[in-house]
Amino acid sequence: MEDSILDIKDLNLYFKTDEGKYQALFDINISVKKGEFVGIIGESGSGKTQTVMSILNLSPKNSIKEGEIIFNNTNLLKLDEYELNKIRGNYISIALQDTSLSLNPYMRVVDQLIEPLVLHYGKTEKDAKNKIIEILDVLRIYNAKNVINKYPYEFSGGQRQRFLIAMALSCSPHLFIGDELTTSLDPEIQLCVLKYLNELKIKNNMSILFVSHDLRTLAKFSDRIIVMYCGHIVEEADTADFFKNAQHPYSIGLINSTPKIEDKGRRLKTIPGEIPQLNKLTKGCPFYNRCQYCIDRCLAEKPALENVNNHLVACFKKF
Ligand SMILES: Nc1ncnc2c1ncn2[C@@H]1O[C@H](COP(=O)(O)OP(=O)(O)OP(=O)(O)O)[C@@H](O)[C@H]1O
Ligand SMILES: [Mg+2]
Repeated sequence: MEDSILDIKDLNLYFKTDEGKYQALFDINISVKKGEFVGIIGESGSGKTQTVMSILNLSPKNSIKEGEIIFNNTNLLKLDEYELNKIRGNYISIALQDTSLSLNPYMRVVDQLIEPLVLHYGKTEKDAKNKIIEILDVLRIYNAKNVINKYPYEFSGGQRQRFLIAMALSCSPHLFIGDELTTSLDPEIQLCVLKYLNELKIKNNMSILFVSHDLRTLAKFSDRIIVMYCGHIVEEADTADFFKNAQHPYSIGLINSTPKIEDKGRRLKTIPGEIPQLNKLTKGCPFYNRCQYCIDRCLAEKPALENVNNHLVACFKKF
């Protein structure tokens, strides 16, 4: 697609473990357009993190990938570390779920935050510091100018998360990837982060690929929603369409189990049953054991992702 900035094509990912080799991502196709906010949702273990980590080749050492990840006409999976480093931070920035992996405990926060701007962009330390403070102010780190002289351990998880977001955004990336960024933040701060991302999307035409557990967040900010289950994309649709007319029984389950404001105090519905382990997946639909519409065919054959009423959906039942 001409106006897409990122195209993940037929991505398959396998893990080699002591229990053998098994597949964790199955034929993942995702494209993100310039200036688009794409949300990925799915229960724990559905492959959201593995999908976004594949983009910049941050996948675990015991994994093998097949497929293509096209960014600006280049297949990122074919690049070596040196070439990838030129893309990381410069064009694509990623802020991951686990802050402990990304901040050096022995370095003052300020030195880590200004490093990409000084190294990649040749900014002076003073200019880089000003830029970082400007972003941290927006992200509500109070007294940012002074507190960033401390070390990471002196901050809460939520504060460290915002440092990573600020570092990822400081180089004005064309594509920003966020993985569960808002989980450790207060609702008020979550909103502030998402509003800021949205502002950069509009102002700089920045594209966003955003992983979240929370459909309400995606309802508010994403243009398109991708639902993952057990390493598969099971549905994809424009956000408004998704909520109006979700097609996959799993998506319908997710929508029904999302608390609404008026649900306060009322018992929430959950999707019954358990997610199967990846090494125990059968040849059928990965959702069959939890699906109220399951028929024999669902056990024998895996439904392909097909266009139904402008949704891509992988289900034999047509609603
Ligand atoms: N290094 C590894 N070796 C083997 N399996 C792994 C490894 N890392 C992740 N996995 C498995 O890959 C699957 C997908 O994990 P992933 O972290 O992408 O899920 P997720 O959707 O991000 O979940 P969460 O919402 O909990 O963050 C899980 O079943 C996980 O156990
Ligand atoms: Mg994850």
